[in-house]
Amino acid sequence: MAAQIIDGKKIAEQVRAEIKVEVDELKQKGLEPGLAVVLVGDNPASQIYVNNKHKACGELGIYSEVHRLPGDTPQEELLGLIDKLNYDKKIHGILVQLPLPEQIDEKAIINAINPAKDVDGFGPANVGNLVIGDDCFFPCTPHGILVMLDKIGVDPKGKRAVVVGRSNIVGKPVAMMLLHRHATVTMCHTRTQDLAWECRNADILVVAAGRPRVITGDMIKEGAVVIDVGVNRLADGKVVGDVDFASASEKASWITPVPGGVGPMTITMLMKNTVEAAKRQWSRGS
Ligand code: GUN
Repeated sequence: MAAQIIDGKKIAEQVRAEIKVEVDELKQKGLEPGLAVVLVGDNPASQIYVNNKHKACGELGIYSEVHRLPGDTPQEELLGLIDKLNYDKKIHGILVQLPLPEQIDEKAIINAINPAKDVDGFGPANVGNLVIGDDCFFPCTPHGILVMLDKIGVDPKGKRAVVVGRSNIVGKPVAMMLLHRHATVTMCHTRTQDLAWECRNADILVVAAGRPRVITGDMIKEGAVVIDVGVNRLADGKVVGDVDFASASEKASWITPVPGGVGPMTITMLMKNTVEAAKRQWSRGS
């Protein structure tokens, strides 16, 4: 079977168009959603991500400010900025780009963000609410994956979902979201004994392993839906996912390409979370 491609770029464009309509309506009512992005240091990949987030805000009419701090910024100074943003009425969402330089304790920074403005969904309040199935901000990449499944008409209910990778940013939250959508979820990681066997059971396979082409066609069940979160740059400059696209697409029914799959959805869901944060803060009069 030749897999159908899940076009993340196209889906992201559709979702962004919907968000833009909502932002226009909110602005007419006097609410302009606002996002603050904080970048510490000059990690080249982070700079690109931050610029893309700022650009996406501009395109959707969301107010945004980027705070660029030098790489040797002390933790206390960053905490001071977050405190200011927590109380800033123009700002409804705060995102501190990760990774942070080593003198800064990432956990202390994430914990300092007001949970109502934690549009990354990384803080303990949001993570806890995600686990118990209460109101929260879904982390952007997992949120984007669930939207993609919805858009192609794949309902996780009753299906076997296998998640490869147990990061706090993707693996753990996407597993939890699939569980809430009634999938039977297995999480795999570097100590999993027989990864190929686990993957071959998957009706939905989400791969966020951070290793190029670690999942090959022989590890995929005929007709599975394959979501590849990986972005790996090879020595020859080529960007590939964690899934070997050529062999996997012979077995899968649907598959995300890299690039152009999950990637475009992540920033889109950040925009959605920012608008949601603005609406919630507005309705509470805060
Ligand atoms: N670094 C890589 N991905 C992310 C993300 O989704 N959010 C933040 N804050 N930093 C990241």
